[in-house]
Amino acid sequence: MKLDFTSVWQYWPFLYHGALLTLKITAICAVLGFLLGIVLALVKISKYKPLIWFGRFYTSIFRGTPLLVQLCIVHFGLPQLLGFTLTTTQSGILTFTLNSAAYVSEIFRGGIMGVDKGQYEASMSLGIGYGDMMKDIIIPQAVKHILPSLVNEAIALLKESSILSYIGAVELLRAADQITVLTFRFFEPYLVIAVIYYVFVMILSAVASRLERWVNRSDRV
Ligand code: ARG
Repeated sequence: MKLDFTSVWQYWPFLYHGALLTLKITAICAVLGFLLGIVLALVKISKYKPLIWFGRFYTSIFRGTPLLVQLCIVHFGLPQLLGFTLTTTQSGILTFTLNSAAYVSEIFRGGIMGVDKGQYEASMSLGIGYGDMMKDIIIPQAVKHILPSLVNEAIALLKESSILSYIGAVELLRAADQITVLTFRFFEPYLVIAVIYYVFVMILSAVASRLERWVNRSDRV
């Protein structure tokens, strides 16, 4: 059985557009999930019981059910309930952002708890308010420590975006599916997108390790 990649290359625009959508959704959800995750982490470490309960409930729902099921509820279920439909991209962005925020909030909570108690005490004794203390002192230090976990989250988002093919979004996996239908070849298109995902993850890791070195630059004396 010989491999034939020429038939796959013939349809490279499919892969190109698929890759663009994969990257676009990953980037948007990584940013939105990160921001929502910070808010959720602050909610969970707040002093208000109802807020804390809400934060815990949110996290347990989004971590406790499969992402694919959440995606189906948003894309196929919500229209029935609300009477309007979302495009596959919109559903993807909404679901992945909500889901990622749950994971990011736990990463952040751990990071914030890990910041030395002395930092809080020093801020308080200087009369710095809670908001400024979090924004200028605690969160920047937390981010530094949790950077590797945040990168893991971005990698998870990138790879999990492949489940968007299930609802018909033409991202990388769906693009490969379309090529299989047109060429009657399966191994080559799927192998090619596996390599593309892998290259993306490698690039992301490389950028992340540079970023890590940069944020830790002040640690070197
Ligand atoms: N496959 C997992 C699920 O179905 C992925 C969850 C997403 N993971 C993440 N770190 N955002 O629940």
